[in-house]
Amino acid sequence: MTSRIVVVGSANLDIVVPVPHHPARGETVLGADHVQVPGGKGANQAVASARLGGDVAFVGCIGDDPAGGVLRASLTDSGVDVAALLTAADTPSGIALITVGPDGDNAIVVSPGANATLTPDDLASIESIRSANVVQLQLEIPIETTIAAAEAATGLVILDPAPAPTDGLPQRLLDAVDVLVPNETELALLAGRPVDADDIDDIVSAARSLGVDRVVVTLGRNGAVVVAEDTVTTVDSPQIDAVDTTGAGDAFRSALAVGLAAGTDLASAAQVASRVGAATALRFGAQPSLPTTAEVDERLQ
Ligand code: RIB
Repeated sequence: MTSRIVVVGSANLDIVVPVPHHPARGETVLGADHVQVPGGKGANQAVASARLGGDVAFVGCIGDDPAGGVLRASLTDSGVDVAALLTAADTPSGIALITVGPDGDNAIVVSPGANATLTPDDLASIESIRSANVVQLQLEIPIETTIAAAEAATGLVILDPAPAPTDGLPQRLLDAVDVLVPNETELALLAGRPVDADDIDDIVSAARSLGVDRVVVTLGRNGAVVVAEDTVTTVDSPQIDAVDTTGAGDAFRSALAVGLAAGTDLASAAQVASRVGAATALRFGAQPSLPTTAEVDERLQ
């Protein structure tokens, strides 16, 4: 039987402007023409997992507006089951305002819109969360809803702690998570102290302080560090000239999810995920850039 992955999270319409540099406080920057693409960490992870071969369902909420139609279509076009995708009346879909710099780095502001209306009660009747082999979560929907999904799951729970709260993660959520996947900035926020991203020992010690047995810290072009109960594994990243890093982290996390759902060990799944993330950063836009397994190899040749 095929393993089932359920993603509970956000869907946003990304409004993306390429810029020569990101605006500083009070600064106005002239960018290139804007592009609108489907995004949102939850929907990105659902689409990414499906394109990588996963059997995926998405649980989320969009607005009753044209943006909602774009977001729903992108999920269904990628083969994601949207039976549990809700539509909120008289509420805009989530949007993300994104600037992308010349090095492919981004800055993002999210207006949650309909994502903020997804409640624990909405999940109560969704059997697929309980029975999924892997549940992928992020933090762009109400935290109590994320906690409810994590606690309902009987399979493996993977949490992308983004955007990271400055006051740490609730203990109930930590208790229900099996694999935590922060980037270096989120690791420092969650650990409550600066972390030297060039110092593996410091990364490991911060990761072990978070209270989750398995932590995968993503380090962009420096790869990743897999911190498990008794082992630490460093993972290299292919060196690329990034076009747009938006969605690369989502693709990395989904490759982990697909690998773990298939029974791959965490360190091996992270090796694959590193390539998937790099291949994603070679294309523009969140969901348009998410690769199939064959496209990962083609783009990295
Ligand atoms: O992780 C990238 C995503 O973050 C974007 O697609 C944007 O919508 C925000 O959710």
